[in-house]
Amino acid sequence: MRAQVVRELGGIESLRLVEVESPDVPAGHIKIEVEAVGLNFPDLLMIQGLYQFKPDLPFSPGAEACGRIIDVGDGVTDLVVGDRVMAVNLAGAMAEHFVAPEYNTFRIPDNLTADRAAALSMTYGTTYHALVDRSHLAEGETLLVTGASGGVGSAAIQIGKALGAQVIAGVSTDAKAEVAASLGADETVNYESGSLKDQVKELTGGKGADVIYEPVGGDVFLQTLRCIAWEGRILVVGFASGEIPSAPMNLPLLKGCSIVGVFWGGFARRNPVKNRANFAQILTWAADGTIDPHISATYPFEEAKTALTQPANRTATGKVVLLL
Ligand SMILES: NC(=O)c1ccc[n+]([C@@H]2O[C@H](COP(=O)([O-])OP(=O)(O)OC[C@H]3O[C@@H](n4cnc5c(N)ncnc54)[C@H](OP(=O)(O)O)[C@@H]3O)[C@@H](O)[C@H]2O)c1
Repeated sequence: MRAQVVRELGGIESLRLVEVESPDVPAGHIKIEVEAVGLNFPDLLMIQGLYQFKPDLPFSPGAEACGRIIDVGDGVTDLVVGDRVMAVNLAGAMAEHFVAPEYNTFRIPDNLTADRAAALSMTYGTTYHALVDRSHLAEGETLLVTGASGGVGSAAIQIGKALGAQVIAGVSTDAKAEVAASLGADETVNYESGSLKDQVKELTGGKGADVIYEPVGGDVFLQTLRCIAWEGRILVVGFASGEIPSAPMNLPLLKGCSIVGVFWGGFARRNPVKNRANFAQILTWAADGTIDPHISATYPFEEAKTALTQPANRTATGKVVLLL
C-alpha cells in the first residue's frame, strides 16, 4: 500500500510518499481502507518529535480517517468487515490502510460524506468531552472560545450552541471572525487588535465568561484568567501558539475559578463506554445538521505536505482533509 512516511524527525519536508506493507491488525483493533484523512495540529507536532506520544521511526502521521473495514482483529465484538466507519488512533492514518482500536471506531450514518466523517472524531470528540464532561457547560451560560476558527475551536462554537450557550469567538484576524460568525458564534472578539479582557467584559456586562475553551496557550491563556467569571471554568485544551503558559496563581484564587485539564485521548482509553455515548450524540447531531464540520480545504493524498502547511502557518480555518 502507499503511505506518507516520516523516516527522520523534522519539518513537513521530512514526509515521503512510499510503498510499505499493509499493517497487521492486533486484537481489539480493526483495519480500514481509507477514503479521507482529517489533519490535526498534533500531526505537525508528531512529525517534529514534539508531541507527548513519540512513535518509533519510520511512522505514518495522521490520527483520524473515514473508510470501510477490511479486516478485524481477535476480540472485536461489534464491528464487521464492510462497515463504513470513522476511526481514531495516535498515528497511521496517512496511508491507504489504517488500524485503530475498536473502542475509538464508530459506524457512520449513510448521509455523512467521507470528508466530513474524517473531520469529526478528534475535534468534536475532544470538544464534547471538554464542554460536557469537564466543564458541565449549562444552557444560558457564556462560553468564550479562543482559536475559534481552528479545528477544535470551530467544533466548540457548534457544540456550545447545540448545548444552549451564548458563544463568544476569540480570533486573531477579521477574516477568521467572519468564519466564526458563519459557524454560529453570537459575538466575535479579535485578541490581536484589542484587549481580550476588555472586549469580553464589555460583552458580558462586566461579569466575564462562565466557561473558556482555550486551545492556544501562551499570552492568550494568561488573558483568559482576566476575563473568567466568578466560579468559571477555564478548559486547558492545547498550546497551538507553541507556548505552555505559567499562570500567576493569585488569579484563580481571586476569581474563585477552576483551571480544568482536557485530555480526550486519555479519557477515551480509560472510559470507552462514556466516549461511545458522547459519539452517539455527536453523530446524531451530524446526521440532523445541528453540527457540520467546517472544511476549508481538501487535497489529494499525494499532496499531504502542501496540506499541512496551512495549520503550520496559521492560515487554516476549520479542518483540512486529504482525499484518497
Ligand atoms: N486536549 C486534547 O485532548 C486535544 C485534542 C486535539 C487537539 N488539541 C490541541 O488543540 C490545539 C489546537 O488544535 P487544532 O487541531 O484545532 O489546531 P488548528 O486547527 O491549527 O487551530 C489552532 C488555532 O490556534 C490559533 N493559533 C495561535 N497561534 C498559533 C500558531 N503559532 N500556529 C498555529 N495556530 C495558532 C489559530 O487561531 P488564531 O489565529 O485565530 O489565534 C488557529 O486557528 C493544539 O495545541 C492541539 O494539540 C488538544
